[in-house]
Amino acid sequence: MYQLNLGSLSLTEFLNDYWQKKPLLLKGGFKQFTDPLTADELAGLALEEEIESRIVSCVNKQWDMQTGPFEDFSVFGETDWTLLVQAVDHWHPDAAKLLDPFRFIPNWRIDDLMVSFSTPGGGVGPHLDQYDVFIIQGEGKRHWRVGMPDSNLQQMCPHPRLLQVSPFTACIDVITEPGDILYIPPGCPHDGISIENSLNYSVGFRAPAQKDLLTGLADHLIDHDVTGKRFSDNGRSAAKSVGAISDTDLNQVQQLLQQLVNDKTMLPHWFGSLITRAKHELDINEPDPHYSNEEIAEYLDEGSVLSRCGGLRCCYYQQTPDSDILLFINGDQITLPANELTTAQLVCDFTALAPEQNLHFTHSAERLMLLTSLINQGYWYFSE
Ligand code: SIN
Ligand code: CO
Repeated sequence: MYQLNLGSLSLTEFLNDYWQKKPLLLKGGFKQFTDPLTADELAGLALEEEIESRIVSCVNKQWDMQTGPFEDFSVFGETDWTLLVQAVDHWHPDAAKLLDPFRFIPNWRIDDLMVSFSTPGGGVGPHLDQYDVFIIQGEGKRHWRVGMPDSNLQQMCPHPRLLQVSPFTACIDVITEPGDILYIPPGCPHDGISIENSLNYSVGFRAPAQKDLLTGLADHLIDHDVTGKRFSDNGRSAAKSVGAISDTDLNQVQQLLQQLVNDKTMLPHWFGSLITRAKHELDINEPDPHYSNEEIAEYLDEGSVLSRCGGLRCCYYQQTPDSDILLFINGDQITLPANELTTAQLVCDFTALAPEQNLHFTHSAERLMLLTSLINQGYWYFSE
């Protein structure tokens, strides 16, 4: 189990003073850090078709970027390249545990665990990210520079698939060692150059853009065949120019759209399902044959431990203590009665359930059916 050490800061101080505001170095953020995976294991993941990986290299000031899967790393030589593997938490349960110390931020804001292996001189170049990230130093050492957002920085493309920024002034300039953690808010330029073979773990967050939200709302309307209200214009006066779109008409169109967005009944349904959809492939293994409710009850009585499939996104929403609970799992919605909050919390707040927590599901037929169905879909599995 990894435990986050914020030094002299309390969690509240970190959230008030640094989160989304300014970068922070947590020297020894994880004490006595042990890597959850080896560079060889990471290379093994990059062999897989369904796992997103890329190699960024810079030789003689010439940047290059290749996408995986990769079979042969020897062609890249001993220096000046970085392998980056996305959503490692979906495929490697031990690596997924690195997300747990950051779960003071809700599930829906957490994106994935990206792991990089860099040879000496390797890095992706100075760049900005749109999202918050905690970068954990694993084995090896890396020279990191991080700056504050600066509107004078110029974006440049040294390679068609690489977006970098012009040189920046660093407010953090450090050689990170195993267990050190950098927190980098969105828009802060950063650059990490490896000193020796080095593993870095990036805990990334997601922040939907207005475009994503509107697309999600539109998908919900299409999926549920909702047309909504139609434009109406009783009280119209005769148009002076029939070719013109008037401001009065535009205001009405705007109001019509706002009514849709303001609909608080619809909001949790479409947002919950949008935000729990997986961005990267999941390692789902559906049991064959499926378990019966009775078999599941037996396993739970025997004290089995349950684990959630890595990267599975689970959230719930309950408007008031008397309202039904909307449970969202991997984009699907399940409605639970108001008094089943513990059930929703067990499913959403924990990535592994201990035997005593599991007994909760044996206390009613409905809970057992829900858990059986989650296990039969490969969303939860018996890990011990
Ligand atoms: C890396 O690990 O090389 C890249 C991490 C980042 O800069 O976002
Ligand atoms: Co970055």
